[in-house]
Amino acid sequence: MNKFKTIWVICFLTTVAVLGIFACRKSADVELPDYLSFEVPKGWPMPSYPFHDNPLTEQGFELGKKLFHDKRFSVDNSISCGDCHMQHEGFTHNDHGLAHGVNNQSSTRNPPGLINLAWRNSFNWDGRFNKLDEQPIHPITAPNEMGETMANVLKKLRDDPEYPVLFLQAFGTRNISEASVLKALSQYMLQIVSFNSKYDKVKRGEASFTLSEQFGYEIFQQKCISCHTEPFFTDFSFRNIGMPIDPGLRDVGRMAVTGNKEDSLRFMVPSLRNVQLTFPYGHDGRFPTLINVFDHYSNRVVQAPGTDPLVRNRISLTPFEMGQLQSFLFTLTDSTVLQNHRLRHH
Ligand code: HEC
Ligand code: HEC
Repeated sequence: MNKFKTIWVICFLTTVAVLGIFACRKSADVELPDYLSFEVPKGWPMPSYPFHDNPLTEQGFELGKKLFHDKRFSVDNSISCGDCHMQHEGFTHNDHGLAHGVNNQSSTRNPPGLINLAWRNSFNWDGRFNKLDEQPIHPITAPNEMGETMANVLKKLRDDPEYPVLFLQAFGTRNISEASVLKALSQYMLQIVSFNSKYDKVKRGEASFTLSEQFGYEIFQQKCISCHTEPFFTDFSFRNIGMPIDPGLRDVGRMAVTGNKEDSLRFMVPSLRNVQLTFPYGHDGRFPTLINVFDHYSNRVVQAPGTDPLVRNRISLTPFEMGQLQSFLFTLTDSTVLQNHRLRHH
């Protein structure tokens, strides 16, 4: 076949395919979903989430929001994702450290606040997952979190009178698959973006720091920013900040994933956005307040060879400096996310 002919054949096949899709959609009486664009705040890098595999739509977002708050993801229909990741508490829960799962069991870690996930390449305190679309399988199936199987979740959703239609509207098919459930959850979580805190407004020249916030920012830039890097307030790395291992939990962090000795006691550098609300702090929630975290850096870092050189000699902070650091960190609270009506479950 010559080149010319091949092109015509391709054109013909494409036309048939497009007509076919429209015919199918028409017969099922489905509108095309409303595509949404993902806005990258000015000056920020491009996100790493593969949006081409999961284009954002209004219908996908709304479906994801409903799924995120559906208690049927747990074995006894008692807890939803949103029960451990609550919007008004910075998408974590702040009354206790370790998360409460089904059957009165407790998880071994503190839920991180979900924020700006589109820019992340690894998830969980030990970076066990590289894809946002895979992470939720962990809480759904962990016996001490939701204790359910994916097959049962799919069955519950398929038996529901509403879901098949919602999946049809979002993904063009009534068939509810594991992949489409995970994609919908991602569509919701990806849109939890924080770039409107007082800090961001100061950076854009729309507001100004108080004196103590300004001093706090200066201390932060000297002592903290190499790991809690702007604008995400994490450099996405795993570090050992010299927290003594909890003898009960015996959590070795990143080493459990890589098997490398040097990763022992390394944990993800958490974002500090909304940190005012995401107490208690640390991977196991051992620090009740920010002052306890500052006291750790200043007085209690375990000075072992594995401890990160940036903190090994401890970061000396006077009580006055701690107060200023706290004032600065409070400027990272973003009420436009915490109170965003669109993210709220009705
Ligand atoms: C029982 C409480 C609980 C429930 C329910 C729960 N999570 Fe979590 N979530 C956690 C904890 C604890 C972690 C940290 C896990 C780890 O590091 O091992 C976490 C971590 C995450 C992360 C990674 C965040 C990061 O910064 O790396 C995402 C994303 C997430 N959860 C989404 C979900 C979704 C989606 C659901 C529902 C399917 C869900 N969670 C249900 C407690 C929970
Ligand atoms: C060597 C890198 C590094 C430096 C420097 C550093 N941090 Fe951290 N920070 C981390 C890591 C890693 C964690 C998580 C530790 C854990 O829970 O295992 C953390 C946790 C925190 C938390 C708890 C957040 C949460 O959601 O649990 C706060 C608050 C914090 N750091 C503030 C600071 C401040 C303030 C400074 C400067 C005085 C600072 N950090 C310097 C790496 C660093």
